[in-house]
Amino acid sequence: MVSIENKDPFPYPFGEQDVYRYSNNAVPLNPPIAIEVTKSYLEDIKLKRELLINHPKRCYHSMPHTLDAQWEVLDLILHQLASFYPENYQLVANNDHWIFTNQLTGENHSFIFGNQATLDVEPLDFVGRHVQEDLILMMQRDGDLFLDAGQLCFPANWSLYFDAGMSFKEIHTTIPGFKYGSLDERILQFLMRIEAGSPWWRKNWSLMAGDRLDTSLETFAEWGKARKNVTKENAGELVHLRVEVQKLFRLPKSNGILFTIHTHMLPLESLIQHTPWLKQFSAILKELPEFIAEYKGISLYRNSVLEYLEVELKKR
Ligand code: HEM
Repeated sequence: MVSIENKDPFPYPFGEQDVYRYSNNAVPLNPPIAIEVTKSYLEDIKLKRELLINHPKRCYHSMPHTLDAQWEVLDLILHQLASFYPENYQLVANNDHWIFTNQLTGENHSFIFGNQATLDVEPLDFVGRHVQEDLILMMQRDGDLFLDAGQLCFPANWSLYFDAGMSFKEIHTTIPGFKYGSLDERILQFLMRIEAGSPWWRKNWSLMAGDRLDTSLETFAEWGKARKNVTKENAGELVHLRVEVQKLFRLPKSNGILFTIHTHMLPLESLIQHTPWLKQFSAILKELPEFIAEYKGISLYRNSVLEYLEVELKKR
């Protein structure tokens, strides 16, 4: 990954090809870590916690039968934080008596593992407040996967409240062409075969007018209108490439799947500094079929962005 302006490495989402189509683009995850701590950690955590306080129904959902799986998620993430970022997080697990220290937020939590009464909020909600990722818990039963719990503060134009309890295919019905060649069924089968200890990851992308992380469906009226203001003059500053790093972990005891989503944003004026990205991204955006551009919400300002990129290309 290339580092832009000395910031965190940006997860540029495209491979070799200059065309983009929906596919099962998941690959094995190495190192097998569900979370990543970046420079915007404290800013993101602050925003997350404010959203959870002010909009609990929009940002958190769980069904009672997910509680054991939620403890598994807490177990997995706290252990990973402590082992991959030991300078920032410590975990002392003395049988069921756990003490978790977050040096970055200056917090110290002590609780009894498996005992809900010793935490202020549910385990998934607790652990989600210490990581930048959104955390979705898919439970597997009857040959299918269901969204039975989740903490979602930074959705790319979807609603946890609306999708709660839905199956994998139901969640994805809004995506045009996703059923073509039974892609939805093939991805579902792939997900149900994921094994504990062998996690996977993928990148998803879209463009955004603005740099807001909490672009929930419920608040579309607040952020969606910026799309109308994009011009070739302001596109570099206003438009951002929004990339979701998504990871999939099998939970061995409950047989659920933890789906983590880390959202990264890069203004186009930074993206174009890296000439191969400028060239490839221009080609991809130009060729992108209208049904994908429309679904991703780019149609309204695609031409303005292309004009901006064209001007930059001529300078190289
Ligand atoms: C199992 C956990 C997953 C969950 C909970 C999930 C959830 C979602 C949601 C909520 C959306 C937005 C749908 C809408 O507009 O209402 C979405 C979009 C999408 N998902 Fe998933 N997804 C999961 C896994 C995957 C996997 C493994 C793949 C492919 C390998 C995938 C491919 C896609 C694609 C291509 C889109 C359209 C994104 C775009 O064009 O911007 N999803 N997903």
